[in-house]
Amino acid sequence: MYAFSNAVNSMHSEDIKLLMKQASGKNLISFAGGMPNNDLFPVEQIDEIYNSLPEDLKKLCFQYGPTSGYPPLIKSLEAYLRNKGLEVDDNKILITTGSLQAISIVTQEFVNEGDIILTENPCFVGALSVFETAGAEIHSIPIDKDGIDIKALKSKIESLDRKPKFLYVTPNYHNPAGIIYSPQRKKELLEVLSGTGIILLEDDAYSDLYFKEDEKHLTKAMKSYGVKDVEIIYTGSFSKILGPGFRLGFMLSSEEIFEKAETVKQALDACTSNFMQILGNEFLAQQKLGPYLTFLRSEYLERKDLLQKYLKAYMPEEITWNEPKGGFYVWLKLPSHIRSTEIFRESVTKGVVFVTGRTFDPASKKDDRLRLSFSNTPKDRMEEGIIILSEAIKKVLQKSKSTSPDQLVL
Ligand SMILES: Cc1ncc(COP(=O)(O)O)c(C=O)c1O
Repeated sequence: MYAFSNAVNSMHSEDIKLLMKQASGKNLISFAGGMPNNDLFPVEQIDEIYNSLPEDLKKLCFQYGPTSGYPPLIKSLEAYLRNKGLEVDDNKILITTGSLQAISIVTQEFVNEGDIILTENPCFVGALSVFETAGAEIHSIPIDKDGIDIKALKSKIESLDRKPKFLYVTPNYHNPAGIIYSPQRKKELLEVLSGTGIILLEDDAYSDLYFKEDEKHLTKAMKSYGVKDVEIIYTGSFSKILGPGFRLGFMLSSEEIFEKAETVKQALDACTSNFMQILGNEFLAQQKLGPYLTFLRSEYLERKDLLQKYLKAYMPEEITWNEPKGGFYVWLKLPSHIRSTEIFRESVTKGVVFVTGRTFDPASKKDDRLRLSFSNTPKDRMEEGIIILSEAIKKVLQKSKSTSPDQLVL
């Protein structure tokens, strides 16, 4: 059951169908789930926190709370955000049910059917489905190893006859590309948006998961750059650092944006679970997050290193990939005539799954990449998984050599 839910998280619907058909009953090796590791959750600490809560707080866990969030958690979050250099005094925090809900609230607040949203390409599939559901016209801009393509962004903005409602980006340990924006690229991005009236939606779900302490400064949020003429809505999440089961996220925005967002949230779910907010707040207030993050960083670094080792050992030379500085993802590049969907078809029959490239393309076409997540794959099955995947890639490469490129276009 775990293996299956780990596999289908963020997968393309057609790939899920194939998975169910080809791999049911198989002992899957999944590089698909963009999720934290089941074995690393702070189960005992949360047990201890709940068991030592005073009776009245235990009762409050079961109750409704204010729409904006549990006040002590807002206080703890203020400290957490100040620590990241974010200005909380001139902004307001809204606690959300996962940061995906924050993205959804911002979309409901600003986007009507047919409005334009700018995204990166590739883009986090959860956000894409929010934007698609809202009927937005999505225009995507390519990214490279340092972030969004500034030239392409500029010319996209100039070419549009209507102002986009916002630009959605994931600058730190990008999902799926695994990159982190360079400080220079963050600066250039703000310069391009300056004076355009286009809101920046800065999704920062992974910034605490850097691998090296001396690279922490790279995760500095654009919202903390002190730029006054770009409206920035910053979203964050406890999903990757505490567990997605908490469904705890938040947004930091101007008071004006906050007020409307609060009304939207009121209509969505009235409030985020008090239970989870109280437990999450205790975790922060009792200073448990810092040491836990130190532990997580070394665990994920070890998994990242293992995956890199096996990729180097087994991948054919035509395949390239990034070495992430944090987060969960490696983004494999295939020769341009090879589709990751074809590789998926091969590997799923042998019990190995990943997320195909087209899943992250708003047009659902660009398919010369594939996402491997190293966060929740058992360490002792990684090597076997990469051997199987590389054999599948070799098979597809071999087939492509004996077929004309025209025949390969599906
Ligand atoms: C880039 C990014 N943003 C936001 C989220 C949503 O996280 P949650 O709604 O669990 O806070 C995810 C989850 O995969 C993500 O990868």
